[in-house]
Amino acid sequence: MSENTYYITTPIYYVNDMPHIGHIYTTVMADAFARYHRMQGRTVRFLTGTDEHGQKIEKSAAAQGLQPIELADKVVERYRHLWEVLNISHDDFIRTSEDRHKAGVTEIIKRIMASDDLYKGDYEGWYCAGAEAFVPDSQVVDGKDTESGYPVERLSESSWFFKLSAYQEPLLEWYKANPDCIQPKSRYNEVLRFVEGGLRDLSVSRTSVSWGVPFPDDPDHVVYVWLDALTNYISALGFGSDDASAYDQFWPAQIHMVGKDILRFHCVYWPAFLMSAGLPLPKTVFGHGWWMRDDAKMSKSLGNVVRPDYLIERFGPDALRYFLAREMAFGLDASFSDVAFLERFNADLANALGNTTSRAVSMTERFLDGKIPKTPAAGTIAEAAAEAVKAHRHHMDKMEPHRALEATWRLLSAINGRIQEQQPWALAKQGDEGRAALEAVLYESLEGLRIASLLIEPFMPSIAERLRTQVGARGLPVNLGDATVWGLLSEGTSIGKTEALFPRVDVKKMMKELAQRDEPGVQAKESSKSEKPEAEDDGLISIDDFAKVKLVVGIVKEAERVPKSKKLVKLMVDLAEDELRQVVAGIGAKYAPEDLMGRRIVVVANLKPAKLMGVESHGMLLAASLDGDPDLLSPDGEVPPGTEVR
Ligand code: MSP
Repeated sequence: MSENTYYITTPIYYVNDMPHIGHIYTTVMADAFARYHRMQGRTVRFLTGTDEHGQKIEKSAAAQGLQPIELADKVVERYRHLWEVLNISHDDFIRTSEDRHKAGVTEIIKRIMASDDLYKGDYEGWYCAGAEAFVPDSQVVDGKDTESGYPVERLSESSWFFKLSAYQEPLLEWYKANPDCIQPKSRYNEVLRFVEGGLRDLSVSRTSVSWGVPFPDDPDHVVYVWLDALTNYISALGFGSDDASAYDQFWPAQIHMVGKDILRFHCVYWPAFLMSAGLPLPKTVFGHGWWMRDDAKMSKSLGNVVRPDYLIERFGPDALRYFLAREMAFGLDASFSDVAFLERFNADLANALGNTTSRAVSMTERFLDGKIPKTPAAGTIAEAAAEAVKAHRHHMDKMEPHRALEATWRLLSAINGRIQEQQPWALAKQGDEGRAALEAVLYESLEGLRIASLLIEPFMPSIAERLRTQVGARGLPVNLGDATVWGLLSEGTSIGKTEALFPRVDVKKMMKELAQRDEPGVQAKESSKSEKPEAEDDGLISIDDFAKVKLVVGIVKEAERVPKSKKLVKLMVDLAEDELRQVVAGIGAKYAPEDLMGRRIVVVANLKPAKLMGVESHGMLLAASLDGDPDLLSPDGEVPPGTEVR
């Protein structure tokens, strides 16, 4: 391994079931980091694959009347297809049923045997096939493993044991000498406490299961599936084969990315196996949080599992990738809800990214014949871009991808704010006089978007490329070094055609459509809900009802009284749309029109238009009402117009 290599892995997925968003998450995040490090100039190796052996697969296959390998072949295709559709850039895909993997497993066991860490005995105790884990008595309640929730069964069989107990001290020393080896910190502490509590020797072979790697020199046993599976990280590099050059180049891994449920296997068993075999240990294991569905655990029996297919088909792979990366604070749990997905789609993608791009591109088309103008002196957008690039790198290096995205969206908001402030459409009307300012603001916007596209690239690779095409950056370098320097768009280049990157969706309509795609359990639940009379009127509304109301921050640009009315004021409000919005409000008794100019207000933006004293109003503003006297609501800070209020 050299300084400049970066080896990143995902867990290998069980092939007993089709993937859901929880599985996709680990891979999407690993992909984002792999892409980020490639863009930093590192030699990256990114591995994913499938975990095909063990009791769980053996049972699932039997239940479907298939041989285990037939089931594996079927599900593996599903994974391969999904990774292709989702634009996952892995360099290798390992299946544990491959010979190269079996060779690696055989080799590691031989080395562990040579260290005298294996002995034969009898395992008498509980086994949880769902988690493929031996479960201590203290962790079994009502026939279930309290940790995984799956049922357990009693085993009594001959087994090989690994002297895990001998590794308690070496493991503790490793953790203490490498405080970053398990991340985030809370998980590090969790593992440390667990190991401090003492370790028991681990059964590493099964005789009542036949679907696995035969135990070297003892073929009545198959290797315990976790010892088998963990070894994929090195067998895929050629460990145990004639050509171990990739192993020499890339091992130890920079990072094993896993869900928090499989932390112990990666942070206790895996390093202990490696120590025993005399092999280097991975640099970091990152345990991310758990995706729930509407705050409940996703489970097949509840029918609330979120499958990716429909979301990808309807919104595109990048929208799903973005949502997963942005919504979950990396390391913590998060909940997937349709409304949250749709809101982010509209606010972050359709509006902040899509709209800003189409404004900049269409105005360049209209006012500058679709050609990039000359580079102006660096101004506020150049500053915002430099700031975003710095923050993006800082957060990616600290494993905070959600924050890296936040920083990128601050740049988009700065671009949008600058367009609002400079009003290119007004500058264009001024002819020669406004020309320099018009060219400057459009250049800055396009160049800011080019830089944003590079920051977006690890998360939304295909959208980033389309964005570059639109802003005239096709063919320019795609890296996070010199390419993020200001001013690479060159004068006279033709920009691309304006196309909506993310056409806005109607949340209400889409909520219905999304409910249809749910698995039977949820549909049944939802329809029985809707059959209930609406009326147990407790005065409460659901979050979905609230989501129908679109609240947006606006800035008052013009204000005048409605003739013959004491109360009504006609406002022209900037909501970051193509034109100012006309809103009529009954606030004239308290507020004079001139006091309203430039004020930030909150507007209900999706209200049906109405006429008040003959004047059309396209929305309503929010005010507290104190004895009938209005008190205008404003955001606390300098929030840009068009920002949604939730
Ligand atoms: N085969 C083992 C891993 C062996 S690695 C040497 C396994 N497979 S799995 O298919 O059950 O899970 C794979 C990954 O998906 C794990 O990282 C797991 O944490 C993740 N997730 C499965 N459900 C999840 C959620 N609901 N939310 C987030 N991640 C979840 O475990």
